[in-house]
Amino acid sequence: MNEEIAAIAWQATSAVDHDRVQSRIAELARFGGRSDGGVARETLSSVDRAARRFLVEQARALGCDVAVDDCGNLFFRRPGTEALPPVLTGSHADTQPVGGKLDGAYGVIAGLEVIAALNDAGIRTRRPVEVVAWTNEEGCRFGPGAMGSSAFVGAADLTEYRKSTDGHGVTFGEALDEALAEMADVRRCPMGTPLSAYVELHIEQGPVLEQAGLPLGVVTGIQGVRWYRATCLGQASHAGTTPMERRADAIVAATGMVQRLNEAAAQVHPALRVTMGSWVVEPNSINTIAGKVVFTVDARCPDDAALDRFEEILNRTVTAWDWRGEATLDRFFCKAPTIFHASVLEVVAQACDEVSKQAGFDAAVRLSSGAFHDAMYMAQHCPSAMIFVPSIAGISHNAAEATAPEPLTLGVRALAHAVASLAL
Ligand code: GLV
Ligand code: MN
Ligand code: MN
Repeated sequence: MNEEIAAIAWQATSAVDHDRVQSRIAELARFGGRSDGGVARETLSSVDRAARRFLVEQARALGCDVAVDDCGNLFFRRPGTEALPPVLTGSHADTQPVGGKLDGAYGVIAGLEVIAALNDAGIRTRRPVEVVAWTNEEGCRFGPGAMGSSAFVGAADLTEYRKSTDGHGVTFGEALDEALAEMADVRRCPMGTPLSAYVELHIEQGPVLEQAGLPLGVVTGIQGVRWYRATCLGQASHAGTTPMERRADAIVAATGMVQRLNEAAAQVHPALRVTMGSWVVEPNSINTIAGKVVFTVDARCPDDAALDRFEEILNRTVTAWDWRGEATLDRFFCKAPTIFHASVLEVVAQACDEVSKQAGFDAAVRLSSGAFHDAMYMAQHCPSAMIFVPSIAGISHNAAEATAPEPLTLGVRALAHAVASLAL
């Protein structure tokens, strides 16, 4: 990096304001804030829509041009001095049904803080710097996850996504149209526009950085992920009168499958992670045998071939289960492992190492992400990479999710350094 760029990148880094980051995180967490300290802000819910409005106002106050695309992704642009593709940063503002204050929100607030720091330091960049808040990264209300970034890089997917239904029968298309109608004052922008780079800052959501005792991680890639839905159709019947040997009990079948899948996972690959996290039981009554069970399977591994092998076992386990009912399997999300781009990784690594060193720490950890992120789709579109900060006790998707204040600020400083270097 030339010395002049390095010096200006440090000015941006130094202008990051610790207290402003802390207070913005707290302010955003009020939208959907819970008494246990967690946040319930599922995508496109009324609180998510109010949070999006809050972000639009924050961005306008920083002098940004605000735009929204057909998938509800919000873009906040600080102009550059030349008409070049922007450097994009950001993350998502939606949460799990019970999430924390940081998963996604941190990356969006950090992006706005980078713009505030550039403003405060009076730095003009050649390229525009843009912050994004992606729609529906979590995928828990409407599957699959990372919908906004996926549609941004492949707009044709939006047609299918619009049909995805939540637990109350509302389609993603209906919820999206309502959110877009509320954004009538915001300029509509096209999807898939050229970008020069994408850098996403996120909490690690796992134990690696905490165990290393270091505040920053350079994320080299993201493991592969696949999501499935298994539907077990038995027969609802009276709990007191139906003999055990005549039952088609969907719960007994489904729990048997889950047990077998958990056992199989360890044999397929030591790093394979399998989760059966969402269940619908019908009629869900104490004295009626379950007639129908639908459960989800989330499978992840850095080795795509292992995911293929697990998929075969999963398919056989579900469809050939020996019982009096029938079961089917449907795959609705599949993303191969992502490897980030050397060019952006180099800039991010330099930013993380220097910010770590200046704060008295060893060089940043290099690690792969266990969670998926919008960066996995952005890597198909432009050179992309990520930065992690530690999660206390490695906990996330939980109200107790937290990161100590110092690494939170160091993460934003490293982001400011990387974004400024890429945009100057
Ligand atoms: C994202 O929230 C994931 O499930 O990895
Ligand atoms: Mn996230
Ligand atoms: Mn998440």
